[in-house]
Amino acid sequence: MSDVQEATNQLLDVNLRENQMSVQVTESGPRSESEHLQVTIGATVPTGFEQTAADEVREKLGSSCKISKDRGKIYFDISVDSLAQVHCLRSVDNLFVVVQEFKDYQFKETKEEVLKDFEELAGKLPWSDPLKIWKINTCFKKKKTKRRKINPNSSKQKIDNGRGDTTVEKDVKKEFTNSVSDSQILDCYENPTIKEEVSTLIGDDLTSCKDETEENSKEEGDPEVLKFRVTCNRAGEKHCFSSNEAARDFGGAVQDYFKWKADMTNFDVEVLLNIHDNEIVVGIALTEESLHRRNITHFGPTTLRSTLAYGMLRLCAPQPTDIIVDPMCGTGAIPIEGATEWSNCYHIAGDNNPLAVNRAANNISSLLTKIQVKEGKLSLGLPIDTIQWDICNLPLRTGSIDIIVTDMPFGKRMGSKKRNWNLYPACLREMSRVCRPGTGRAVLLTQDKKCFAKALSGMGHLWRKVHTVWVNIGGLHAAVYLLKRTPQSFVHPSEQDGERCPCTQR
Ligand SMILES: C[S@@+](CC[C@H](N)C(=O)[O-])C[C@H]1O[C@@H](n2cnc3c(N)ncnc32)[C@H](O)[C@@H]1O
Repeated sequence: MSDVQEATNQLLDVNLRENQMSVQVTESGPRSESEHLQVTIGATVPTGFEQTAADEVREKLGSSCKISKDRGKIYFDISVDSLAQVHCLRSVDNLFVVVQEFKDYQFKETKEEVLKDFEELAGKLPWSDPLKIWKINTCFKKKKTKRRKINPNSSKQKIDNGRGDTTVEKDVKKEFTNSVSDSQILDCYENPTIKEEVSTLIGDDLTSCKDETEENSKEEGDPEVLKFRVTCNRAGEKHCFSSNEAARDFGGAVQDYFKWKADMTNFDVEVLLNIHDNEIVVGIALTEESLHRRNITHFGPTTLRSTLAYGMLRLCAPQPTDIIVDPMCGTGAIPIEGATEWSNCYHIAGDNNPLAVNRAANNISSLLTKIQVKEGKLSLGLPIDTIQWDICNLPLRTGSIDIIVTDMPFGKRMGSKKRNWNLYPACLREMSRVCRPGTGRAVLLTQDKKCFAKALSGMGHLWRKVHTVWVNIGGLHAAVYLLKRTPQSFVHPSEQDGERCPCTQR
């Protein structure tokens, strides 16, 4: 029996005693009934990579996907025994089980009527199977990583004071950097893609939603009441209500129906009310923390989501024994994802900034420790090396690399637009030198599209643009370009003049 099967079977044995729920969860039948549960899973994915995610789901779970018109979401059907595999998907950020989908929801004219309908909706939804899945899922769900809030001033003081004591300084710095960058990554990469309003049933509303049963249950030593929150994601121009109002009224009705207790931060169940124009999907969250937070422990200022890194790597279809390079690796998000998912390839992570190289090395070592703890034995390691270098002058042989995947400085947080005018052509030239003519490919992410287009236009004989994926990176409209290396041999500019210096030959 596979690990996944075994885990699933154990979970099916979980006693679904939900005696505080007035719903069908208590009626969850014998194990055989749960085993045949079929549900629809919704997943949020990096925008632009919906098709990549759908391909992964088809490959790994054998399910076909519906790609939502609400960009950045896919839906697929599974049976409960595939739930563990769903959590192992590399292209998905957050997961939820669909309670019900309304493709063409008829909103009433006035706000009062719409909100009244939301209230009535709570009692009419088919909650039973999704709640069983939610219960089974609790064992797969990764708990949210606690992120300590750091007071930058006090940290700075400690760093300053600690000049004479390198260990302290290093540790404090490390902690400061990790924590600050952690919020930066959220800030930078978790902004909603489309103009979308997100609200949870909020604090003040709880008072009005509070039920007397809450007090009673404490006294009697009754079974603990489940805590929940409702999150409403709303996108669309024509709504006469806000996401806040929808979450409040729908949430109040959910509370009345289940007799759950609302809690915004410490909740057991997160009910999702996703509204996109006239499409509504009600779901229950299956992830507490985005699955993209899997590889990186040492964050940098522009750490890329692992899910996006996966999508970029997939675009160039790595083959066994391929040599894959990220010449501007930062914290190593791309090559680390590559080394874990394409372990039959060899990955090189380089950067000109020693801090970035250090972070990448630390991330690799933390991941190895994690793998060892999980497997309970020494791991064979990951097929990856880190190196400090300058992309404009790589210590690699001409035509020796199969794939280059990199996230270039946008010139906003990293580098500058002005510097990109020199950097981008130099990058493309050096990449074309090291990349194998005829078969080599490159996947490059940038938001500085104008500069990139100009640099590429001068290199049409070396690179052919095959595909562009438009992505949203923390509100920035960026592009991922898939380039193929033409069969033309690389000729060094100095050779063209017949004066190449032998010491620069590689
Ligand atoms: C957008 S960041 C990459 C972020 C990375 N994907 C991550 O997940 O952390 C771009 C990186 O390019 C590096 N870089 C800039 N100029 C470079 C050069 N000439 N050679 C090598 N790396 C360079 C920067 O140090 C930075 O780490």
